[in-house]
Amino acid sequence: MTAPSSPLPQPSPAADLVAEPMRSRWSPAVFATDRPVDDATVGGLLAAAAWAPSTGNTQPWAYVVTRRGTPAHDVVLDALSEGNRGWVPTAPVVIVGATLVGEHDGRSPKGDYTFYDLGQSVAHLTLQAQAVGLHTHQFAGVDGAAVARGLGIPDAFRVVVGIAVGYVGTDDHLAAARDEDVARHRKERVRRALAESAYDGAWGVPFGG
Ligand SMILES: Cc1cc2nc3c(=O)[nH]c(=O)nc-3n(C[C@H](O)[C@H](O)[C@H](O)COP(=O)(O)O)c2cc1C
Repeated sequence: MTAPSSPLPQPSPAADLVAEPMRSRWSPAVFATDRPVDDATVGGLLAAAAWAPSTGNTQPWAYVVTRRGTPAHDVVLDALSEGNRGWVPTAPVVIVGATLVGEHDGRSPKGDYTFYDLGQSVAHLTLQAQAVGLHTHQFAGVDGAAVARGLGIPDAFRVVVGIAVGYVGTDDHLAAARDEDVARHRKERVRRALAESAYDGAWGVPFGG
């Protein structure tokens, strides 16, 4: 196995105020196809997701783990958007994230917070992954209804996102990847200026701290 392409993309350029593992988190588009992720590690990701806060502790999320080479994984691959067909299969694990949108087993969703809670839970999952040396790349470019049908997910749950999980691809893996995925992998990471999204005391007054 070769070393990861060096240097790794600098996760959060100029983000000197951001602590680990948030600073190092980024979404690679080329994973190491020859490095599986063991079940205990995946279990840790799911445990972190489960310990996220949620509205009234309702924990409306549900996850289905799929591993490369299994029929469940094929269900996800078959439902991918064109843009995601090249890179998602390079991840050894894809976790499908769904959330409660109807009545199920005596539970009901708390309005839009069902989506908020899933997102926050996934954020915990991604940071746990980063903390144990893995990377994640979420994707909405997938036919959620087809995935739900193929994996037997009840109608009361909406498939919202896929989460590709694995180790960052090396130069060898990059050499085998589609050009567009290599470009995506190496794309400069940028964010809107904080002053455009964070205000101090009143809308439009940039937070200057
Ligand atoms: C809900 C959600 C959906 C996303 N969908 C896709 C997708 O379909 N395909 C893709 O390549 N990336 C997707 N992404 C990844 C984002 O493009 C990525 O997080 C963003 O560009 C910021 O990059 P970073 O995660 O490395 O900071 C998605 C991310 C989120 C949170």
